[in-house]
Amino acid sequence: MQSLQQQATGRSGVKEEDAFAIDEVNLYQKLGHQTFVNLSTEFYNRVYADEEPWFRSIFANSTKEEAIQNQYEFFIQRMGGPPLYSQRKGHPALIGRHAPYAITEQAAERWLHHMEAALHNVERIDPDPRNRMLNFFRHTAYFLVAGKEMMNSRRSPANNRKQT
Ligand code: HEM
Repeated sequence: MQSLQQQATGRSGVKEEDAFAIDEVNLYQKLGHQTFVNLSTEFYNRVYADEEPWFRSIFANSTKEEAIQNQYEFFIQRMGGPPLYSQRKGHPALIGRHAPYAITEQAAERWLHHMEAALHNVERIDPDPRNRMLNFFRHTAYFLVAGKEMMNSRRSPANNRKQT
């Protein structure tokens, strides 16, 4: 059986080495703290104003401010900065933390659409860091889709039925 990483690669079209090219440079040092705050602000401004209610509603249980802080602290920690996210909330455990939400392929594409627009709108994020981040985001989004499907299949009654 394919690992979640392999599924993420197959479904996103992003090879693992490209997804983790964010680790070849210290993007936090290169871009600075405020750039990540600006990126998450740009991103969630778009998400919370999305014209599609099905997508907007996925985020209905969090305030925009919470979501922005969670995201930029995670990005900062993952891209070479201080471990702000884990200091406040513990291990990121992304699959588990996304368990309450409908992480479908359609949701992943919409998430990525807003993230791509946000990346283009933040000063200082030129094409090299932008491409590294986009590859990481695309791969991770499909990793989450695959993780969700795995959890759903474990929970499905057909799989839990006793073989008599
Ligand atoms: C949190 C949805 C992809 C990282 C959340 C939340 C939602 C959500 C609804 C809760 C908002 C909050 O309170 O922070 C989605 C959807 C995705 C997606 C629909 C589409 C595939 C991603 C990706 C990453 C990511 C690709 C990382 C690269 C995070 C982090 C949090 C979060 C770090 C904060 C978790 C917490 O502290 O509870 N996401 N997400 N998400 N997401 Fe995603």
